[in-house]
Amino acid sequence: MWLSALLLGAFLLSGPVRGSDGSASTAITCFTRGLDLRKGTEDVLCPADCPLWQFYVFGDGVYASLSSVCGAAIHSGVITNTGGAVKVQTLPGQENYPAVNANGIQSQVLSRWASSFSVTGTRSTALEAVGRSVSTARPSTGKRPKKTLDKKAGNKDCKADIAFLIDGSYNIGQRRFNLQKNFVGKVAVMLGIGTEGPHVGVVQASEHPKIEFYLKNFTATKEVLFAIKELGFRGGNSNTGKALKYTAQKFFSLENGARKGIPKIIVVFLDGWPSDDLEEAGIVAREFGVNVFIVSVAKPTTEELGMVQDIGFVDKAVCRNNGFFSYQMPTWFGTTKYVKPLVQKLCSHEQMLCSKTCYNSVNIGFLIDGSSSIGEINFRLMLEFVSNVAKAFEISDIGSKVAAVQFTYNQRKEFGFTDYVTKEKVLSAIRNIQYMSGGTATGDAISFTTRTVFGPVKDGPNKNFLIVLTDGQSYDDVTGPAAAAQKAGITVFSVGVAWAPLDDLKEMASEPRESHTFFTREFTGLEQMVPDIIRGICKDYLDSKQ
Ligand SMILES: *[C@@H]1O[C@H](CO)[C@@H](O)[C@H](O)[C@H]1NC(C)=O
Repeated sequence: MWLSALLLGAFLLSGPVRGSDGSASTAITCFTRGLDLRKGTEDVLCPADCPLWQFYVFGDGVYASLSSVCGAAIHSGVITNTGGAVKVQTLPGQENYPAVNANGIQSQVLSRWASSFSVTGTRSTALEAVGRSVSTARPSTGKRPKKTLDKKAGNKDCKADIAFLIDGSYNIGQRRFNLQKNFVGKVAVMLGIGTEGPHVGVVQASEHPKIEFYLKNFTATKEVLFAIKELGFRGGNSNTGKALKYTAQKFFSLENGARKGIPKIIVVFLDGWPSDDLEEAGIVAREFGVNVFIVSVAKPTTEELGMVQDIGFVDKAVCRNNGFFSYQMPTWFGTTKYVKPLVQKLCSHEQMLCSKTCYNSVNIGFLIDGSSSIGEINFRLMLEFVSNVAKAFEISDIGSKVAAVQFTYNQRKEFGFTDYVTKEKVLSAIRNIQYMSGGTATGDAISFTTRTVFGPVKDGPNKNFLIVLTDGQSYDDVTGPAAAAQKAGITVFSVGVAWAPLDDLKEMASEPRESHTFFTREFTGLEQMVPDIIRGICKDYLDSKQ
């Protein structure tokens, strides 16, 4: 069952087809999620006869974007399970998506999510209700999707490096240990392991953790299944905390097969409760940028509760306590229906909030020229450029941070890295910067920024970037201060406008200078540089890792 569902989900793709009112609707699958669609509004066509029990739906009326679109449409009563056209409207994220049972679908709770959608009927829904079943079951274009499953490459849409941390304790026992192996095998199959898809390894938690195999050992499903089958039960205390810490530290190295820029995930299986503490392990995993999922099977009984060291162990181990990273199964029996929802979570690349990326792990300091030659109007264009670069990053107290300094002969710290830790506040602070007007001493300004703005964060986990934005010749030397900044671990980009001399710009920029130096004759040209700067930061970030 699950294999055919996978094939459906991955390969029943879908071109635009005409609704009966002539508008174009995109035919989607039962498992297309809100976040798989374009932003804004989109008309889609749901197929008939989706397997209701496999739907993954969060919320009621407003659905978290990882919900199935067709599932949400049936849940909200817009269509029935005979398919039909649906209008999907992208909405902002919200708190507390409730669980509601409606129209044969049980939606689930989620405490927070980055984006949402709502579903309504399209004008053509009523008309189509009469004669749609044939045309939606097999799009009338007559084109059958190609079913060339590239087994070797695997599921390219699911890039993840995953460690299954299985429970090998006396808690679980030999019999349930085997059921656990079964379940892990099914998850592995459904993931679509392959050279370009997900890679998996297994660690067994017992008295002492044991890495059974690494990511690099096998990149074919068959081999992984065989290796899982061969796993021997070790027994002992579960010591899950110890095992989690060990896995976070030892498992994901490049030489053991971890890939750069791909989310690292540890799926912790727990039968009952951990015999040690998970808090410290959770912190270590967070530091290593690992997304920890806790799959707990069976809760401790009332008598057992007294033996649990910390009742809140799940929240302590996961890096974001938003409900996404924990997963419950009532028992090891009849777990097939839990496979697909778990796989969907593991493949939700954009929800791996704990992965370190160039978007959530950088400090970007802007050094903004406020000299008289710029003028108020162009100064606003410079601020807009600063906003547009800042906007691309995930700014938060545990994410990226932004600071700004304006300079003439003097320097004014507009705001430091820890002053504003939401994107909204940072953007508003940028808007409120008042133009100084004066001379240009870029060198002094770089030294000032290195010392007072980057100084306090230099030992933090983020990588540091300085973007120097200037329109002219500096009255002082820029080479020394820029070299000192780079020596302090700050990557410098120089962005020049109008009269800024190219030699100065290059002198300031980090190596290779060509790719860290930008120039535009007009202030209006700044806007076009935004994507290049962001790409540049991301490239440097990735190059600096591991
Ligand atoms: C995995 O690879 C390592 C190094 O290549 C090797 O030592 C180890 O025996 C392999 N493990 C398995 C289970 O094949």
